[in-house]
Amino acid sequence: MSKALNHFKNVTFQLPNVEKMYSQLLGGIDWPKNPFTVMDVGCGSGRVLLQILEPLLPPHYEEIVGIDISEEMISVCKTLKTDPRISFVSMDIEQEVIPKKFHNRFNYISSCFVLHYAKDLGKALFNCNQLLKVNGEMVLIFLYGSNPLFEAYKQMSTIAEWKPYTKQFENYVPEFISKDPLQELKMKFNESGFEVLWSGLNHDPYESEVENFLALFNAMDLIYHRIPEDKKRKYEEDFSRIMADVLGLSAEKQDLNKNVMKYFPTIMVHAKKRS
Ligand SMILES: C[S@@+](CC[C@H](N)C(=O)[O-])C[C@H]1O[C@@H](n2cnc3c(N)ncnc32)[C@H](O)[C@@H]1O
Repeated sequence: MSKALNHFKNVTFQLPNVEKMYSQLLGGIDWPKNPFTVMDVGCGSGRVLLQILEPLLPPHYEEIVGIDISEEMISVCKTLKTDPRISFVSMDIEQEVIPKKFHNRFNYISSCFVLHYAKDLGKALFNCNQLLKVNGEMVLIFLYGSNPLFEAYKQMSTIAEWKPYTKQFENYVPEFISKDPLQELKMKFNESGFEVLWSGLNHDPYESEVENFLALFNAMDLIYHRIPEDKKRKYEEDFSRIMADVLGLSAEKQDLNKNVMKYFPTIMVHAKKRS
């Protein structure tokens, strides 16, 4: 099974927390009477978009476009049965130039657990700004203060064999590590042409089996596809061991089915494009 399909089938433990956060964020929107358009950035294997986001939207939306940097994730999304107003496109939110057809096209941008993966958050926000219509709004959920995947890459960059693939993370420092992450966020969003209408932190626990936490980050592994075939097995072993270590878990076979509780400090933002 591909990592993307595994993500769709098995990584579901985060859904109740995501539903709570999206309900809170979307409850703050004064929805227009006319049909409106939505882009979901980093839609992954589509489950959150289809099972949580779409049911929480007023039914008169005109279109939802889900984008993801991973073609594998988009391929999974395209196999799902959806409303004909929903489509999926492979696209990097940090790419140099966004397609002309998407400029000023969306009333809303949503994004769940994606922006902490941005190498250049300013560029990602700049592109979000271009995608939105005048007065367009964003509802975003992302990790702050730590990023387990990039932390694992940082540790892997100390291993000679994996350094060529992980070098860019050797000095990785997460965003929003100050004492007042919401103030830091407000400034960053302001600089990028957004007014923060509301923001909040979420520290709810996530409970699942060890192997599901590992599967979540395994599906997000941005480097795996660049590893030569004959090294992939060794890479996967090292990645799982180091990822488990970063998460404070044990990747030993006898521990994989143990139920554990983890915390992923999260920021929720409702922001508006400044005119
Ligand atoms: C943790 S998953 C979240 C997926 C989905 N939003 C959810 O909540 O289940 C993060 C997703 O963001 C995508 N992603 C990471 N960086 C991205 C970028 N620069 N542009 C678009 N998608 C990106 C990854 O490929 C992955 O599918």
